[in-house]
Amino acid sequence: MVDVVGPVRRPGTPHWFADAPDGSLGLLLMSHVLAAVAWPYANGPRHIGHVSGFGVPSDVFARYMRMAGHDVLMVSGTDEHGTPIQVQADADGVTPRELADRYNRVIVEDLHGLGLSYDLFTRTTTRNHYAVVQELFEGMYRNGYIVPKTTMGAISPSTGRTLPDRYIEGTCPICGYDSARGDQCDNCGNQLDPIDLIDPKSRINGETPKFVETEHFFLDLPALAEVLRQWLDTREGWRPNVLRFSRNLLDDLQPRAITRDLEWGVPIPLDGWRDRPDKRIYVWFDAVIGYLSASIEWARRSGDPEAWRVYWNSKDGEGSVPSADGVGGDARSYYFMGKDNIVFHSVIWPALLSGYSGEGSRDGAPGELGRLNLPTEVVSSEYLTMEGRKFSSSRKVVIYVRDFLERYDADALRYFIAAAGPESNDTDFTWAEFLRRNNDELVAGWGNLVNRCVSMAAKNFGAIPPVDPAGLTEADEALLATSRTGFTTVGDLIGRHRQKQAIGEAMRVVAEANRYLSEQAPWKLKGEADKPRMGTILHVALQVISDANTLLTPFLPHSAQQVHELLGGTGVHAPMPVIEQVDDLDGGPSYPVLTGDYTVGARWESVSIEAGRPLATPKPVFRKLDPSIVDEELARLAD
Ligand code: MF3
Ligand code: ZN
Repeated sequence: MVDVVGPVRRPGTPHWFADAPDGSLGLLLMSHVLAAVAWPYANGPRHIGHVSGFGVPSDVFARYMRMAGHDVLMVSGTDEHGTPIQVQADADGVTPRELADRYNRVIVEDLHGLGLSYDLFTRTTTRNHYAVVQELFEGMYRNGYIVPKTTMGAISPSTGRTLPDRYIEGTCPICGYDSARGDQCDNCGNQLDPIDLIDPKSRINGETPKFVETEHFFLDLPALAEVLRQWLDTREGWRPNVLRFSRNLLDDLQPRAITRDLEWGVPIPLDGWRDRPDKRIYVWFDAVIGYLSASIEWARRSGDPEAWRVYWNSKDGEGSVPSADGVGGDARSYYFMGKDNIVFHSVIWPALLSGYSGEGSRDGAPGELGRLNLPTEVVSSEYLTMEGRKFSSSRKVVIYVRDFLERYDADALRYFIAAAGPESNDTDFTWAEFLRRNNDELVAGWGNLVNRCVSMAAKNFGAIPPVDPAGLTEADEALLATSRTGFTTVGDLIGRHRQKQAIGEAMRVVAEANRYLSEQAPWKLKGEADKPRMGTILHVALQVISDANTLLTPFLPHSAQQVHELLGGTGVHAPMPVIEQVDDLDGGPSYPVLTGDYTVGARWESVSIEAGRPLATPKPVFRKLDPSIVDEELARLAD
């Protein structure tokens, strides 16, 4: 780790645009793309179920969009406030800040290990984040979308602390189920109010809660319902489940409390509230604002403090609702998460953005951050299960990212998630399937193709062989066309968040290349007279390998770099994130961030390989796994 203040990449265009002869062509095609990735809670290490929902899909998308020439800003951080962190810290006998510090670092290392290319992965405990959250709160309050209200809240008589709804348990007043939670009954499915539970008890220490009057601020969602509906009505290309679910949420919008009786969180920025130690902004209100605060932090560190605006303020001045093509100005924003987060991204967050921008039925004017763009798309995935069961850290039905990465390669996991992850259905992770995909598809399909061809070419030609002046056969042309077309099909699928299909298409190119090789059997063409044809076959195969490697780069960036080097390439093919220890910009404690220079690296296009270029000494790119790992891993899970 390097100890530096500030530096992240300067905002700007990818390097190849700067080199373009007339500079304008690339710029016309380029748009500003915000990849907004859900913020993991800093209350424990993350398991592979977490990163399959938000982590790998967002990185595949961001990498592809950069390769295709867009100016991408990818931000996130750890979500560090709220009751779960407080409760976990109490259980561990540390302060919430200490707990958050510990897991922030662990999570930064996990995401780094997976090669997730964040421009900035920060945290919600920075002073910059507090200031931006308070600015949004004040702006919404000024515009009339945040209103005070007195309600009845539960407190723990022994600690005097508020007991959040879901930490209260009792008998359901509707169906009589004896372990209904304060917010909902898992038996009959009804939404509940904790005060109505029969015989309520604290799930933390079993005592009977006391109900007292408490004052809170509410987000006036009904005043924003119309603007949210208009926005949802103009959404295109969303996964149908996500859009339907989001629309349904609008049917019954009630004002929602956005403050809590809690000491750990962002203070309420209003006179008479600012200095109260017992009232804080609700964690979800603060966390979603992280997308904006992290963009601002990134800009401040990049040397151009206004650089965030191209991703957030629409150019056309038409307000925060993007135009029909989903674009406000030329900025687009994509939010990546698991399905339990949808409501916060398709209702709460756009409501905050609209309220701050003064777009609801109460009107109003934007604050100093200007009119803010609503999400272009909420890209939500379904759940991953583990050997048929729900992931559970407490019941040890889990594999943490760091343990996974100690035993297996990042690209092996990235491959599984992209090819078999919970993109639009709940899916199951099994060790047997992981082994099969790794050994049969990555090693036997892709890795072998690379190795066979590079070895054969190195041994017989010592370099990339030339094409025989006799020219290409129909079979040669057909294979080359397959990989060239891949750039359109695979790219289009990734752009539309169909990553399973996209990696399937990329692997189809690999399968075609394998079939071509068996048919052409270059190893039989050993005689002097046959050697030019052998060279041609290997040249074609290596060209297709180079293309397939580019198609696979968003999914498998680590091995893509290695394959690039095996083919004799130099320099950065797939840029990687780095961990930097940075000072807080406004005087808080220093912390580690993930950042990187992603303006370098391969473009989304076929690059002609050069005959005569020396090939590197062949070495396997992927590791074949022994079938015994299945039983070893199953033994680690509790039964
Ligand atoms: N911490 C939440 C979770 O893990 C996600 C927060 S996403 C944010 O479910 F946008 F709100 F930060
Ligand atoms: Zn019930």
